Amino acid sequence: MSQQQLPLFPEQASSAAPQVDALYGWCVALAAFFTLLVAVLVVYFAVRYRRRSEDEAPRAIHGSLPLELAWTFIPLVLALGTFYWGASVYFHLSRPPDDAMDVYVVGKQWMWKFQHPEGAREINELHLPVGRAVRLTMATEDVIHSFFVPAFRVKWDVVPGRYTTAWFQPTKVGRYHLFCAEYCGTKHSGMIGWVEVMEPTDYQNWLSGGSAGGTLVQQGERLFSELACQSCHLAGPTQRGPALTGLFGRTVQLKDGTTVTADNAYLRESVLNPTARVVAGYDPIMPVYQGLVNEEGLMAIVTYIKSLTPEGGAGGPSAGQVPSGGGTVAPEKDTR
Ligand code: CUA
Repeated sequence: MSQQQLPLFPEQASSAAPQVDALYGWCVALAAFFTLLVAVLVVYFAVRYRRRSEDEAPRAIHGSLPLELAWTFIPLVLALGTFYWGASVYFHLSRPPDDAMDVYVVGKQWMWKFQHPEGAREINELHLPVGRAVRLTMATEDVIHSFFVPAFRVKWDVVPGRYTTAWFQPTKVGRYHLFCAEYCGTKHSGMIGWVEVMEPTDYQNWLSGGSAGGTLVQQGERLFSELACQSCHLAGPTQRGPALTGLFGRTVQLKDGTTVTADNAYLRESVLNPTARVVAGYDPIMPVYQGLVNEEGLMAIVTYIKSLTPEGGAGGPSAGQVPSGGGTVAPEKDTR
């Protein structure tokens, strides 16, 4: 059943597309089979067992154990099998491979903003190399949006206040429609764009073309300094907040006795609403940054903190960048 002959499905352009289509095909076939079976039997039985005379009394039926077992266990096996199949496809779609490349996505009334770690930034266009798994870390600036690329069989709601992770692996060079699939206001229907899947060399050329603001880590470092984060988080005599080097991925002991893994979501929350989960041994004195930094800035800061490894990947916050003013917070600037 090829896609060209049967234009019911969008093009299959990701590694997951055949799996999703197979499952979908199975569900449709199963539903069609039982619909047909029931419809045919209704008509057949109506004719076969019709009342042939006014005073005809039908024969009593005493049931049949084999028949009861058959119509109990066959549907049970079919339903559980379909559930197992669906769950495994869903798990596969939910777990990005470790070697996936990162792209950061912010939905906003009414556009999609994309940020590549190397620095390139785009709106309503996403350039990607063919054959590489892509992990999307998505947030929204306002209401719920939904990232939908039919050719990749990828559709994930992007919900305010949290990160949504999705992944896919484009398998074909081409240009594919991108939609917002959640009604999000007046211009919802205009919140569309394209995913451009390119040969890896073309992608490298494209990537080297546009990164005026530096890499995402550099952007994060700049914001970190503009918001005067070092004044408290820099190891030394003035340190009043937890050190950030090597923090990402670690288990953090909290003041209330619980622990949390320092992942993207925890770092994001700790910037926006620092008193939500205070680290053991520290006071809840950090100011709230909600409203001072947008989702794009947050992604840059989180990526920067992630890069602060003890081996000194991007170098820690350096003493030369500590603002003299101490704790003043710079107003939000659109540095992008
Ligand atoms: Cu965003 Cu609809």
